[in-house]
Amino acid sequence: MKEHLRCRFITNMELKNKVALVTGSTRGIGKAIVELLCKNGAIVYINSFKSKEEGEKLQRELALRGFKAYYINANISSEVDVKRIFDIIKKEYGKLDILVNNAGFYSNNKDYETYESFHKVNGWGVYLCTIEAEKLIEKGKIINISSIYGIKPNPDSILASGVKAEVENYTKLFANKFKGRIEVNSVAPGYTNTKIVNDNFSEGVLIELLRNTSQKRLVKPEEIADAVIFLIENDSITGQTIVVDNGILIS
Ligand SMILES: NC(=O)c1ccc[n+]([C@@H]2O[C@H](COP(=O)([O-])OP(=O)(O)OC[C@H]3O[C@@H](n4cnc5c(N)ncnc54)[C@H](OP(=O)(O)O)[C@@H]3O)[C@@H](O)[C@H]2O)c1
Repeated sequence: MKEHLRCRFITNMELKNKVALVTGSTRGIGKAIVELLCKNGAIVYINSFKSKEEGEKLQRELALRGFKAYYINANISSEVDVKRIFDIIKKEYGKLDILVNNAGFYSNNKDYETYESFHKVNGWGVYLCTIEAEKLIEKGKIINISSIYGIKPNPDSILASGVKAEVENYTKLFANKFKGRIEVNSVAPGYTNTKIVNDNFSEGVLIELLRNTSQKRLVKPEEIADAVIFLIENDSITGQTIVVDNGILIS
């Protein structure tokens, strides 16, 4: 069923010549979104801050497969870096059609340094990229990767819950501000099989967490990417959130 749907997108090449930027896309959810955008014919800008080599490697691999994908090493919480990203895209293509605000990190620490980093990267980074993207998007889409924590705050992850609620509000605010020109939506993942989860949750905690999920497993990054493509292809949804969480929020 899933493969059939992906093939439909591939055959239609719905996103041919659309220019997309996926922040934080050298691994995990962002990388899965890049892959699906490429398969749908988009020209894709890949980004990360620390994993420069992985980004350059991904660019080479995608080019060998015939895709147009370009890596930009930049810290999305730096105003200078973000302006550089959009200057490059403007110079090379003169436009942007799709922004996916995906870059983010997770920590369970409760100190001020963690609070500041969360807000710089997961919050301010989304804001910065959005206001810069708006200048380049004539008509297009912005998708924010938020979290189930932004919808139902988790008492064990207070700082992460706070910043993801911020992202949920940006989605609604910018959807309203850009109405008629740019649809802005969120995809809120539940526990997804990426480095974030593997680094921060022990096997025991995960077994407990996943016991009540519909599939008894972590969400696959590709399942988040499917939801992103769905939102990109629908013009009538804006200011909304698709939760892809294996039923965690309802359990
Ligand atoms: N996995 C989950 O269960 C889950 C659940 C809810 C929400 N999310 C959200 O999904 C998004 C993707 O997470 P993931 O699970 O795919 O994590 P991941 O595998 O750790 O990937 C995160 C990506 O973001 C990049 N990044 C981090 N800080 C950056 C910065 N300052 N500037 C540019 N790029 C930066 C990372 O590269 P570098 O570190 O090399 O810079 C990496 O490419 C995040 O916003 C996360 O909060 C994930």
